[in-house]
Amino acid sequence: MLAMTAITLETLREKLKEWKGCDLQKTANPVLGEGNPQATIMFIGEAPGQKEDEQGRPFVGAAGQFLDELLSSIGLSRADVYISNVVKYRPPENRDPLPIEKEQCEPWLMLEIALIQPRVIVPLGKHALGNFFTKLSISTAHGQAQKLTDAVTIFPIFHPAAALHNGGLRQTLYDDFTALKKFLTESNIPIARSPLAADR
Ligand code: URA
Repeated sequence: MLAMTAITLETLREKLKEWKGCDLQKTANPVLGEGNPQATIMFIGEAPGQKEDEQGRPFVGAAGQFLDELLSSIGLSRADVYISNVVKYRPPENRDPLPIEKEQCEPWLMLEIALIQPRVIVPLGKHALGNFFTKLSISTAHGQAQKLTDAVTIFPIFHPAAALHNGGLRQTLYDDFTALKKFLTESNIPIARSPLAADR
């Protein structure tokens, strides 16, 4: 898709604007991830909603506000982490992304992961979790570290929007963020790498 020389998040963002590989592009604006390029923790949601589509930024609507609160509850802010989505465009009426849309958008997510090189990936909800483990259910796997490789751990958490519809999930999300913090501390994972540690 792209020449593999000197790819940066900025070049990725520019290339995504020109891309025509997913039909959702006909009705929505591209939304790439954003955040700290040195982050060790990467959050992955499902797909942009209306506010994200309008502003071209991930998680800036109601679910994003709750995500900010959850991050703050463990002493983090969005500036510390990297936040992205499986699908790079808003599906019509915020419907679930189709398997083909997830497949078409996947290379962008993989390039973001390759650039950020996170140590911990937090899939928010079943669509993002399915990218890494097809047989794990978010209902049973949430709040528990799942080893992907020696270098990368997947730490699934329910999607913040789920708690906006089902208030009973709010506390579960807070508890899972606390478990994430504990995992980071016990694994000695810093919030960000030193800018000098990697040439990205
Ligand atoms: N829900 C998502 O999955 N992603 C966003 O960016 C916003 C809401």
